[in-house]
Amino acid sequence: MARKKIIAGNWKMNMTPSEAVALVETLKPLVVNDQVDVVFCVPAIDIIPAMEAAKGTNINIGAENMYFEEKGAYTGEISPNMLKDAGVQYVIIGHSERREYFAETDETVNKKVLKAFEYDLTPIICCGETLTQREQGITIDWIRQQIKIAFLNVTADQAKKAVIAYEPIWAIGTGKVATTEQAEEVCAAIRVCIGEIYDEPTAEAIRIQYGGSVSASSAPELFAQPNIDGGLVGGASLKPDFGKIVNYK
Ligand code: 13P
Repeated sequence: MARKKIIAGNWKMNMTPSEAVALVETLKPLVVNDQVDVVFCVPAIDIIPAMEAAKGTNINIGAENMYFEEKGAYTGEISPNMLKDAGVQYVIIGHSERREYFAETDETVNKKVLKAFEYDLTPIICCGETLTQREQGITIDWIRQQIKIAFLNVTADQAKKAVIAYEPIWAIGTGKVATTEQAEEVCAAIRVCIGEIYDEPTAEAIRIQYGGSVSASSAPELFAQPNIDGGLVGGASLKPDFGKIVNYK
């Protein structure tokens, strides 16, 4: 069975609650497409108002992060059960900005992934190499290691439902999109890696996105690649252009 594309916006630290409602209202009519899963991952404080605004549409409101404990003395964190109770399905885990600025590691990513599955949340698991790593020719080895650690103790049935976002760090927010060949090469390698960890059916089922300066003009070619099942979109997800990305065909 063909994999359904998943096109997600990552709003990052943008939009106040009232701005979030206005943006959902603007994008609502533009992102109608029942052929793809459409997700807006928004700041925690925007989740409830954005969800209200998106009611009755095809938009899924997701989260940008969560902690790996249910409750307790973790000031400032948000738990998987809080997300679940709010009606969230998708949560980004291990974005490169979280790794860079908030000390997340492959190990904390793995803990969060396991916790997300425990609460029946769908993790969008991020991986990606730096420009130096690409220039050193170690991109595939690096990504394979990130994937192997992220999926430790994850069952095949869980992995089938996961989403992986391949986001080369040098392409994030730089306007420097990876070439279609570069993006497809790594996404294909990720699928091979999942096949090695699990089996062919799991590799065939898992959805792999590309992220990094995706725009209305680059989306059609990227999303036409056999191993690219959609995108994780930063800057362009805050603009009407996101409608064009969702309706890339
Ligand atoms: P940009 O699309 O702004 O490059 O951001 C990509 C990203 O980090 C999505 O998670």
